[in-house]
Amino acid sequence: MHAFHTSLAVHDLVVEYTTGPFVSRPIDRLSFAARPGTLTLLHGPSGCGKTTLLSCLGALLPAQSGSIVVGGTEVVGLAGAALAAYRRHRVGIVFQAFNLVGSLDLVENVMVPQRAAGASRRVAKEHAKAVLARVGLADHLRRRPTELSGGQQQRVAIARALATDAPLLLADEPTAHLDHIQVAGVLQLLRSLADEGRVLVVATHDDRLLPFADQVLDMHRDGIEHTGHAARQLVRS
Ligand SMILES: Nc1ncnc2c1ncn2[C@@H]1O[C@H](COP(=O)(O)OP(=O)(O)OP(=O)(O)O)[C@@H](O)[C@H]1O
Ligand SMILES: [Mg+2]
Repeated sequence: MHAFHTSLAVHDLVVEYTTGPFVSRPIDRLSFAARPGTLTLLHGPSGCGKTTLLSCLGALLPAQSGSIVVGGTEVVGLAGAALAAYRRHRVGIVFQAFNLVGSLDLVENVMVPQRAAGASRRVAKEHAKAVLARVGLADHLRRRPTELSGGQQQRVAIARALATDAPLLLADEPTAHLDHIQVAGVLQLLRSLADEGRVLVVATHDDRLLPFADQVLDMHRDGIEHTGHAARQLVRS
C-alpha cells in the first residue's frame, strides 16, 4: 500500500476571468487547508466557482494571486518542467465529463496517465488492472467505455485518476449522472480513497455527499460580477 503524507493549504486565493471589458472573480481570497486522509467538499450552486477552484488546484488554470501549497510545493506560478511534473505525479483529476477515450479499452484508458508519467508499458498495464479491480471493474477490463453504464464509467475515471498514485485527488460532480445505488458505491469508494491517506477535494451540489465529508466549503454566489463570489468555510465534525 502506498503511504501518503501530503497536505494541501490554500491561502488568499484569487481567480479572475476576463471576458472583453468584464472581469469576474469567482474565487475571491479563499483560504482553507486539508490534511492527508480527509475529504473536503466544495458545495454550492451552479456557477459558484467549484470547477474553477478544482482547475486551479490541478494547475490547469492560473490564479491571479494567493497560494496553493501541495506537500511543500507552491503550485501558483509553476511553469515548465515543474508544472508538468506536478500534473503528472502529484494530482489526479476526475473530470465531470469523464473524458475517457472511446477507442481504447479500460486497461488502455487507465494506462494513459501512467505512460505520460514515464511508466513502462508492462508496469502501467499491471497497475491499470490492479486499480480497475480496486474500483470493482475486474470483470470488464477489455470493454470500451461506451459498453459501460454511467456508474461504471465514473469508476473508470476514478481508476485513471488513481493510477499514478497521486496524493491529491480532485473530483468534479462525481455523482451527477448516477442513480442512488450507484451513488452509494461511488461515495464509499471516495471515502475509502481518502481514508488511505490521500487528500480528496470533491465538487458537488449533491447533498447526499455531505455526511461523507470531513470539511465542507460552502460556496455561494454573492454580489455582482466585479465583487465576485465569496466562499464561507464550515467545518463539520
Ligand atoms: N472560461 C471562463 N471564462 C469566463 N467566465 C467563466 C469561465 N469559466 C467559468 N466562468 C464563470 O465563472 C463562474 C464560476 O464557474 P464554475 O464553472 O467554476 O462554476 P461551478 O460552481 O463549477 O458551476 P456548476 O455547478 O454549474 O458546474 C461562473 O459565473 C461562470 O460563468
Ligand atoms: Mg462545475
